[in-house]
Amino acid sequence: MDWLKVCLNLILFSGCVYAEVVVMSSKVGATNPVTINAGVSTLSANDDFSWNFTNSVGVETTLDSKELSLNLTKLSEVGEYESLVNGSVVNEITVAYLANPVIQNTRHSVTFNEGDNNRKLICISEGSYPPPHYQW
Ligand SMILES: *[C@@H]1O[C@H](CO)[C@@H](O)[C@H](O)[C@H]1NC(C)=O
Ligand SMILES: *[C@@H]1O[C@H](CO)[C@@H](O)[C@H](O)[C@H]1NC(C)=O
Ligand SMILES: *[C@@H]1O[C@H](CO)[C@@H](O)[C@H](O)[C@H]1NC(C)=O
Repeated sequence: MDWLKVCLNLILFSGCVYAEVVVMSSKVGATNPVTINAGVSTLSANDDFSWNFTNSVGVETTLDSKELSLNLTKLSEVGEYESLVNGSVVNEITVAYLANPVIQNTRHSVTFNEGDNNRKLICISEGSYPPPHYQW
């Protein structure tokens, strides 16, 4: 199955409106970074530039980096990024990741037989951001 397509569909139909969505692959790393751009080409001497990052559990921090682009190398760097000039947001970037969904406990398919009632299957995709919506 084409997981990237699934992922993009999940993001598009989750009802969120983002300025930009970048999808991180599980192969992300130092030699395969995801680069995000502040949307600012030049700064004047008095401009105060910063990045705000909200991680996957909603904790917001101001990053130490003053670079106009960031190379993200870890799955833990998924979340919402905002570039700010003088405290005003210039660009908003969602860095998303979709782990392959699996059925909890069995991790593979489950056969239902006629007469099987009230069986519950829970689908999980640990590490995914934003939280995906599932459809069976
Ligand atoms: C940011 O603030 C500085 C100092 O107050 C000012 O000189 C500069 O023009 C401001 N930049 C923008 C883009 O508003
Ligand atoms: C940026 O993050 C800081 C926390 O580090 C927060 O206090 C501030 O409100 C954030 N700014 C914006 C524009 O979200
Ligand atoms: C990001 O990586 C590129 C090469 O892939 C490098 O040229 C650039 O300086 C890096 N940027 C930062 C902010 O580290």
